[in-house]
Amino acid sequence: MRGYFGIGVQGISKAGNLGAVMRTAHAFGASFVYTVGAHHKALNIDTTDTSKTLKHLPHYQWDSVDDMRLPQGCTLVGVELCARSIEMPSFRHPQAAAYILGPEHGSLSPEMQDLCTYIVKIPTKFCINVSLAAALTLYDRTLCLGGYPERPLKPGGPDLAALEEWRQLRSRGN
Ligand SMILES: C[S@@+](CC[C@H](N)C(=O)[O-])C[C@H]1O[C@@H](n2cnc3c(N)ncnc32)[C@H](O)[C@@H]1O
Repeated sequence: MRGYFGIGVQGISKAGNLGAVMRTAHAFGASFVYTVGAHHKALNIDTTDTSKTLKHLPHYQWDSVDDMRLPQGCTLVGVELCARSIEMPSFRHPQAAAYILGPEHGSLSPEMQDLCTYIVKIPTKFCINVSLAAALTLYDRTLCLGGYPERPLKPGGPDLAALEEWRQLRSRGN
């Protein structure tokens, strides 16, 4: 997959949720994870992050929006249900992206929303758990940028010749 991504949460209060976000980020190949204004019990992250992400990925812990320092050229993408949100199935993910999700109780702050180049929403009837929203976001990114072949029209797996062609392209880094 070309490009890279990081994912973070603003104002998170439950270590179990943060651990679940980190484990998911690690599993999907994140380059970094971050928190902004977090106030969870740090020691309890491992309860849900059994992959011990903190030993493998940089974790930036910024106190406020003003403290955030993303890599140059990295696009900040908010994940939130709000008026300006783009529906995720219609969104093209930037190659270099930092996703930011909101707290368990509340939403991304207005300052954070202002900083976001895009805000996207998952088409649900109401808000879902933050770690689940993170997982769906990263799965959607993988579907879009993972270089997978088009799905077949008929039920079942892809045409084997098309799959082989896709694997060869992938092994060449295309
Ligand atoms: C449990 S929700 C926060 C509560 C919600 N803002 C409310 O007051 O009803 C936690 C976070 O998960 C993310 N989230 C949950 N459902 C979402 C959805 N359908 N689309 C995009 N983000 C979502 C957002 O980042 C949100 O701030």
